[in-house]
Amino acid sequence: MNSNIKNKFDIHSDPVRTAQKAAQIIAEATQLGESHIALSGGSTPKILFRTLNTPVWRDKVKWENLHFWWGDERMVPQESEESNYGEALRLLSEAPLVMDNMHTPATDLSPEKCAEAYEAELRTYLDIQNDHPSFTITFLGMGEDGHTASLFPGFEENADQPTCISATHPVSGQVRISLSEKAILNSERIYFLTTGRSKAPVISKILEQTVESKTWPASWIHHKHNNLIWLIDEDASPFKD
Ligand code: 6PG
Repeated sequence: MNSNIKNKFDIHSDPVRTAQKAAQIIAEATQLGESHIALSGGSTPKILFRTLNTPVWRDKVKWENLHFWWGDERMVPQESEESNYGEALRLLSEAPLVMDNMHTPATDLSPEKCAEAYEAELRTYLDIQNDHPSFTITFLGMGEDGHTASLFPGFEENADQPTCISATHPVSGQVRISLSEKAILNSERIYFLTTGRSKAPVISKILEQTVESKTWPASWIHHKHNNLIWLIDEDASPFKD
């Protein structure tokens, strides 16, 4: 593995310390000014929210500068434990959130209307570059099948892809809203916030550019974005012996 590939990795001893680094990245961005940060769903960001919810980290964030967005959302009510937004609110219960700065897809609409409305809101708040809104930072998770956000293997990105699309989870059939590949790549910075032993072989295949991994949206993002860091724990490291 060539040494400069390791420059794309920030590896920490465990998920809590990995989440603390993510919290530090968010805190530092908000101290510099208005920050539009897209979050992923799944389990790993929950560790980040628990971290941000503690007094130490709460005080480091300039909350009035922080706009949280979601890179993808499940088409469920926010009361559902499946809701990425709902789970974030529940885990950030002690944080001085500016609720007008918490931007989430309106999952009570149809998927098509939800994607349209979310895209319109994004275009209202974010700078437009390359014809898509540009996030300050995008945190992504990655599934064991190489999906990221709700872009699953087999997803066909086309030239005039909108900023937001509707998608269906290939196993559960759950309908979702997701940022498109182009919208994700438009972010100034991208972090794959990924932990756990099961992700190490997936990352390895992306680095090795195996035939299988070339159909993975996580691989497309890794190879196309020039300001991307894998923020991972040691269990997820592809460099373990
Ligand atoms: C979602 C996600 C999804 C997630 C990955 C990793 O809404 O499910 O955005 O892309 O980030 O599946 O999830 P874990 O962190 O739980 O492994």
